[in-house]
Amino acid sequence: MKTIRDLDITGKRLLLRVDFNVPMDEQGNITDDIRIRRALPTIEHALSQGAKLIICSHMGRPKGQRIAKYSLNPIATHLQNILSKPVTLAPDCIGEEVETLTNTMANGDIVLLENLRFHAEETAGDTDFAAQLGKLADTYINDAFAVSHRAHASVVGVTKHCNECGAGFLLEKEMDYFHRSMNSPARPLVAIVGGAKVSSKLGALENMLDMVDCMLIGGAMANTFLKSQGVEVGASKIEDDLLETARNFLNKAKEKKIAIHLPLDVTVADSFSPDAATQLLSVNKIPEGWMALDIGSQTIELFKKVINDAKTIVWNGPMGAFEMEAFANGTMTLAHAVAASEALSITGGGDSNAAVTQSGVANDISYMSTGGGAFLTLMEGKELPGVVALR
Ligand code: 3PG
Repeated sequence: MKTIRDLDITGKRLLLRVDFNVPMDEQGNITDDIRIRRALPTIEHALSQGAKLIICSHMGRPKGQRIAKYSLNPIATHLQNILSKPVTLAPDCIGEEVETLTNTMANGDIVLLENLRFHAEETAGDTDFAAQLGKLADTYINDAFAVSHRAHASVVGVTKHCNECGAGFLLEKEMDYFHRSMNSPARPLVAIVGGAKVSSKLGALENMLDMVDCMLIGGAMANTFLKSQGVEVGASKIEDDLLETARNFLNKAKEKKIAIHLPLDVTVADSFSPDAATQLLSVNKIPEGWMALDIGSQTIELFKKVINDAKTIVWNGPMGAFEMEAFANGTMTLAHAVAASEALSITGGGDSNAAVTQSGVANDISYMSTGGGAFLTLMEGKELPGVVALR
């Protein structure tokens, strides 16, 4: 796979696909700009080489409608402030007006195209739409790791319509860290998996069974595994239709001699609310009507020991409802343990990254992926269509 480093981009119209799908508050302020900052090395390189930089991204899921709150206007302003350089927001991402704009750019100019998803053809992977995007540029660079699991027009189709294609520095770095952690890891390799649902992570869990030495499972998804072992989990969230799958998974792990650690104790609450009554109990003592919302202290000690012995750690999904202070302890303590460990540590997914940031130890994690779905797709052992297209 070629990277931007391998291509002569001086004076070229360079279409740069980024993922600037960043969280915004009600007033349209960007609340976390990490995805923008992570694309800066590629942007700065392109500018230093004198490319005519045409940046494109999606934002949200406007489903082909031109919805004002999904405009990239705040992004253009933000980028302009970071770069201290003018960033022109195009009125659209394709069409005559945009072509005129991009054809009259000088070297080092920056145009940000309007939200790609204002056209339903983007997510449909429409070939004409891809051709129209391709027409804007000589060279295409994908630096949008977080959307590279989608076979969308600006991620896959467009590569057929530019003279040269390559990866940006962020995409290269994301793939490199993932391969180092999952394909040639220092062992033991420990996966920490949490979050709400087994169903959304089943593919990743099954694939990782062939790769990891040990797995720590927490969060609401642990309830389904516990229940599959005959544990009564009260009013805890579970996926009834996955009990057999969960049981089979644990049996398979046993056959493969992969240690799977489930919670031993949990913080239970009488309702899903920040001021619910709580108790710390062993998992087989969860009272009827109460729900497990965090891992307990005995579990934390066990998980910390495993983390401490790990040489590589891959983490996706929180250990509890960490957005409520009463149930944040498990996730926060593990974040500190991962940060303190000498292992190569990688986290992915919006919730895990938010938890790591909240814990204040983000700088001590080896790598925080910008991907949610893309990170999970790699954990499932699948290729990313956006990366395949560059080859
Ligand atoms: C993400 O936030 O995971 C990416 O931007 C992809 O967004 P999507 O799930 O709407 O395709």
